[in-house]
Amino acid sequence: MRRPLIAGNWKLNKTINEAEELTTALVAELADVTETDILIAPVFTALSRVAALVDNSPIQLAAQNCYPQETGAFTGELSPLMLKDAGCSAIIIGHSERRQLMGETNQLINLKVQTTLNAGMQVILCVGETLEERDNEEMLEVLSAQIKGGLADLSAEQMQNLVVAYEPVWAIGTGKTASDEQAQEAHSFIRGLIQGLFNPEVAEACRILYGGSVKPDNVDGLMAQTDIDGALVGGASLKADDFCRIVKFERIER
Ligand code: 13P
Repeated sequence: MRRPLIAGNWKLNKTINEAEELTTALVAELADVTETDILIAPVFTALSRVAALVDNSPIQLAAQNCYPQETGAFTGELSPLMLKDAGCSAIIIGHSERRQLMGETNQLINLKVQTTLNAGMQVILCVGETLEERDNEEMLEVLSAQIKGGLADLSAEQMQNLVVAYEPVWAIGTGKTASDEQAQEAHSFIRGLIQGLFNPEVAEACRILYGGSVKPDNVDGLMAQTDIDGALVGGASLKADDFCRIVKFERIER
């Protein structure tokens, strides 16, 4: 069975002091969690201080982005190795906000995925269609291009360190969650794509998270779906009580 993973993407929120305050609350509340992996992704400036707080807790640290080079003349950028040095074990790559606002392409995202895996870190690769693409019945085509492009040239072994996050753009920050069935349908399609690119074992082992307005009151139904292995949480990860309830989702037999 795939181990659940609940990840909090703090996006562009919280000063260092605020990040420390939230982390302190999470560490206290989540110290005894053993059956679910937990990741939080604060802003870069808070990483080192948050890393010190989560040390010896079940909470792991992720970065929200990286540059696909180890070192060099790339002003203003951060490499996976530097993020590892700051205490991160994972990096979120290809978030829809970066695809839309920064023009990130599947090709660039693939380079970031490869550099991160080569640094021995875990990748959370985000994919998802816009409302327009869904309405135009282009969803499967878009997901297929994002998965094939993002995973290009990876080995089955590298896939052990990669998690996919399906985040329909129309559900992000809008309060409109995909229904349990809509999410399951997309996750099952993505798992099928991974099987086609690699093999059934890789597809069966790969965790696929759902993201888009995940809240305490909808997490249990989402997590009960066969192909949903966790959540990538935005807004609700900024509130300790909400995020802790999501991490401690109720396991419904499936
Ligand atoms: P919300 O949970 O705020 O909809 O954000 C989802 C997201 O983009 C997580 O990466």
